[in-house]
Amino acid sequence: MDAILADPAALAAHAAAWLVDTLAARPGRLAVALSGGSTPKAMYEQLAQPPLASRLPWDRVHWFWGDERFVPHDDPKSNLRMAQEAMLSHAPTPPANIHPVPTEGLSAPDAAQRYQAELQAFYGADTLQPGRPLFDVVLLGLGTNGHTASLFPGTPALQERTAWAAAVTPDNEPTRITLTYPALESCRDCVFLVAGADKRDVLARVRASDPALPASHVRPHGNLHWFTDRAASG
Ligand code: 6PG
Repeated sequence: MDAILADPAALAAHAAAWLVDTLAARPGRLAVALSGGSTPKAMYEQLAQPPLASRLPWDRVHWFWGDERFVPHDDPKSNLRMAQEAMLSHAPTPPANIHPVPTEGLSAPDAAQRYQAELQAFYGADTLQPGRPLFDVVLLGLGTNGHTASLFPGTPALQERTAWAAAVTPDNEPTRITLTYPALESCRDCVFLVAGADKRDVLARVRASDPALPASHVRPHGNLHWFTDRAASG
């Protein structure tokens, strides 16, 4: 279900409340793939604060990343660091429920392989099955060039339909590890969080399924939701 919110703060509040409602309503073990970037930070902060923090089933939720910058985990660019500072270090999350992308002491391709292996171990199989999603919720952002996660235009990862994770070196960007379309699409709910006037054009193009933009090609097995603010939606 889509929603257009008045401003980034309202977007964060809506997305946080939606996530808690969605996770609290589901039994058993849960898996969330977090987005990086700046947009979701305020949402993560709200999840770890009253009134939502007491309703989120922290003991049952496992946290993964849709992509990660290939930098040390204490680097200011790290998506893990952002999520830890905004949410995970303020919440009763069992450490075993946090599944960071490995970024130190190995090559980027090996990191992608290692993360794929961790996802497969969590999933319990090496092949994604359509009726059994890997994630309950995948959170995604949208770059002004139409990238999502670290699926950047013109990169080989866009063609990857077998591996669950890949190393990417986009132009003028640090190397990143990204989940591929098959892994991101294996979910019950996929949510794009888009805010700001600078995203207006790219959001309109993606909503019109412009094939030149990687975000246009995300086809989740489950529900696709667009949570945007008025500045981005026009
Ligand atoms: C990242 C994100 C990336 C992000 C978009 C939007 O690691 O940067 O995964 O895909 O979601 O670039 O970023 P903003 O929310 O900062 O605009």
